[in-house]
Parts: sequence; structure tokens; C-alpha cells
Amino acid sequence: MARRKVAVLISGRGSNLRALLDAAAAPDFPAEIALVVSNVPGAGGLAHAALAGVPAVTVDHRDFSDRDSFERAMEGPIRDSGADLICLAGFMRLMSAGFVERWWDRILNIHPSLLPSFRGLDTHARALAAGVRFSGCTVHFVRPAMDDGPIIVQAAVPVHADDDAERLAGRVLLAEHRCYPMALRLVASGRVRVVEERVAVDGAAAPEAFLLNPEG
Ligand code: GRF
Repeated sequence: MARRKVAVLISGRGSNLRALLDAAAAPDFPAEIALVVSNVPGAGGLAHAALAGVPAVTVDHRDFSDRDSFERAMEGPIRDSGADLICLAGFMRLMSAGFVERWWDRILNIHPSLLPSFRGLDTHARALAAGVRFSGCTVHFVRPAMDDGPIIVQAAVPVHADDDAERLAGRVLLAEHRCYPMALRLVASGRVRVVEERVAVDGAAAPEAFLLNPEG
């Protein structure tokens, strides 16, 4: 089966990009990272693209007077790369409804919480303030509203009594690096269908077990 071409959009350090690049290095992975786009000049993640020999472009949103022209400027290189899937990986701009519609069910995002809880920024501090016993991460298809859309994969991560936002973020990030390649693999291999805004994964098994926190 031909590998699906993917553009990864970043704004920062790019550890999720690296997880996707590492996964795509396996010959049996059903997707290849064809392009990396950063909206931030010098973003740390650009180094991961260079190391993997993947083309990268910077499209600085500050060079554009409105969101539509910024998005169109990104779309040129994305389409030229042959990508028909987009992964947002720490990409800190909200996509317009028009962009999302042009790429309907073909944009994935990762968010460091169990959506629909804790959309937006400062996720871990808000999870700690709420006293939840589990946080986690979510990979979902993108819809025009922020951190909204059909959920593909989630990982639950326990909150520890002595966590601060940084420690919790680190534990969730490890789960992110597992979840994002897994979600991309499921989507790129054609096992994912969106039915009435919910995701069905062909041939997927869910765990029977539950987790307790605290354990006793
Ligand atoms: C991740 O926590 C991701 O869930 C969020 O932004 C962070 C990006 O980290 N959307 P990185 O740039 O992938 O290291």
C-alpha cells in the first residue's frame, strides 16, 4: 500500500514531530512525513526535520495581514509536497473554518488533556487545580472550535500527589509520543472512520481493565 504523505505543522520544540519522524522511519509505517511547516522562525523542531532529511519551510504568521492569507501561504507548500494529511504538533495558531473545511477529517491535532476537559492553554495547571486523579492526552480530528473534534486515541495518565505542572506535563508527554504515531498509523492505514462525529476504528480492541488512583 502506498504511504500517505503527511505535513506536520509546529511552533516550538517539536518533540511530537520527532516521535512522528521516528515512527515513519520504519518501512512498514503507512505514512511518510513529506514536509514540516513552522510558523515560528528558528523553532526547535526544525532541527528534527533537518536531522531526518525532511524538507521544512517557515511561514511566519506575522508576515500576513489576515489569517486567510497566512493559511493560503502554508497550503501552497503543503499541496506541493503531495501531503493529503496534516498533523498539528504543538502548532499554536487556530485554523479558520475555511481551512478546516478544505481539509475535513484530514487534520489531526494532539492536546495534552483528556478532551473535552481542559481545552486551551495551561492544561496541566488547570488539571492540578481541579484535583483530577487522571489526566492524559488526546489525538483528534480538527474542527473549527479550539481543541474540538472526533477523538481518535486517548491515553490516561495518573496524577501524583507531589506533581507540579511541569512534572505532570513530562508524564503526559511520554504518552503523547506513543499516542500520536499510533493515531497517525490508524488513520493512514484507513482503519479510522468518522461516523456522526465519532471515530470508529476497524479491528481495534479496547482494554477491559480499569485503573485506580489512588490504588489503595
Ligand atoms: C504538546 O504537549 C502538545 O500536546 C501541545 O503542545 C505541546 C507541544 O510539544 N499541543 P512539542 O513541540 O511536540 O514538544
